[in-house]
Formats: sequence, C-alpha cells, structure tokens
Amino acid sequence: MSVLTIASSKGGPGKTTVTMLLAAALAKEGQRLSVIDADPTEAFSRWARQTYEGPPFDCFFEAEESRLAHRINERAGLDELVLVDTAGFGNRAAAVAMTSADLVIIPTLSGEADVTEAEKTMRLVQGLAAAARRDIQARVLLNKMRRTHLARHAASEIEKAGLKRLKTSLSDLVAYGELSYSGILPSSRPAVTELGDLLAELRKEGWLGPPPGKKHRRAKRTIAS
Ligand SMILES: Nc1ncnc2c1ncn2[C@@H]1O[C@H](COP(=O)(O)OP(=O)(O)OP(=O)(O)O)[C@@H](O)[C@H]1O
Ligand SMILES: [Mg+2]
Repeated sequence: MSVLTIASSKGGPGKTTVTMLLAAALAKEGQRLSVIDADPTEAFSRWARQTYEGPPFDCFFEAEESRLAHRINERAGLDELVLVDTAGFGNRAAAVAMTSADLVIIPTLSGEADVTEAEKTMRLVQGLAAAARRDIQARVLLNKMRRTHLARHAASEIEKAGLKRLKTSLSDLVAYGELSYSGILPSSRPAVTELGDLLAELRKEGWLGPPPGKKHRRAKRTIAS
C-alpha cells in the first residue's frame, strides 16, 4: 500500500495533470487505486466524473482537512495505491495530504520562481516529516520540459539546491494539455515512453507495486517450482 501525494506551493505546475496521467495509466494496467481530490476547485473529480474514458478507478472529493487524513487512511487500508491531488499553499488540506504520504511528487516548471517554490515545498515536507516523526520522501518531477537551455538550467539548479528529483521528466506536449478535455490517455510517443519510464522509476524505488499481470505470472511460477 502506498500513498502518493502530488503537491506544490505554486499554482499551475501540473499537479492535476500528473495525477490524471498516473491514475489513467495505472487503471489501464488493471491496478486497484483510489484518487482523492483535495483541491476545493474539484478539477480532478470533475474530470474523473465527466471526461475520463478509461477503465474505472475510485475517486473521492475531500478538501476538508479534518476529514482528509481519515479518508486517506481508510482508502489506504482498502487499495494498493492512493493518489492525492492537492491545491497550492495556504491550504491546510495539502499539508495533511503531504503528512499522510509515502512519497510527495512535486511537479516543477523550469522558471526561477518554480525552482524556488519547489525548494519551499521540499522544506515543508521535511518539516512535516520531522513533526510527525516519520519518513516522508519527496521528489521533484520536472514538467513541461523543452529541449532548451532554460530547461537544462532548471535541472542543474535543482541539483545544486540538493533537491532530489525523479530521473523521468515530462515534456511540454499538446497530448498532455488535451487530456483534461479528451479524457483519453495519450497513445503516441513520446508520451507513452515518458509515462512508462515514470511508472518504472516509481516501481524501482518501491513506491508502486508491480503491474497486476506481472504479479499473477510470478505467483504462478512460484507454485510450479
Ligand atoms: N506536460 C504538459 N504539457 C502540456 N501541457 C501541460 C503539461 N502539464 C500541464 N499542462 C497544462 O498546464 C495547465 C496547468 O496544469 P494543471 O492544472 O495540471 O496544474 P496544477 O498544478 O494542478 O494547477 P493548480 O495549482 O491550479 O491546481 C493545464 O492547462 C494543463 O493542461
Ligand atoms: Mg490542480
């Protein structure tokens, strides 16, 4: 069981988009998951209800901080994976969701202000982890990356600041931007490759379980031997 919270102090770096991509990609694999939308704008839950066209997953809207931790805990007891999409800072629900997480994914764009805000979010996670006396991992996920000098500079600034980041980054793609209107997971390159890389990296680090088919095949081999 893992709780992955997608959070950032800055508005608009792609939290909801990353949550949509992960939810749709994992549901397509047949993974049992719940998504909790903790953002009062309800952007994710509206999308899940009205637009999303893939295999179903459970989606709950809970932006009330006093109920959110209970809801995350309840779903974590039932599903292998819980994703939590959050609103920006000043939002207590986001802090609750970060404190409940095994991993906080911090989507970050390439601007100077974005890198500064990523640092702030990382420090907040560290503070929450210390206060809760538990380990909460956090990783920057570079989003909307272009093959530009600015993007390379942002990556090096993040490394210089000692912020841990996922090796996988997401490109600036029309297919990602369209997801909120189409409800369909992108099926062409480079989106397919990037999403595959992202899931593989999360699996390698232990934040995601194996895909359901793989688990089944491995279990069968064990019985045969
Ligand atoms: N990799 C990407 N390529 C192209 N467009 C993207 C990408 N990531 C996000 N977008 C677009 O950028 C905009 C902001 O993304 P999104 O709503 O996911 O950010 P957010 O962090 O959830 O914002 P908020 O803080 O308001 O909740 C949306 O229009 C989305 O479609
Ligand atoms: Mg959002």
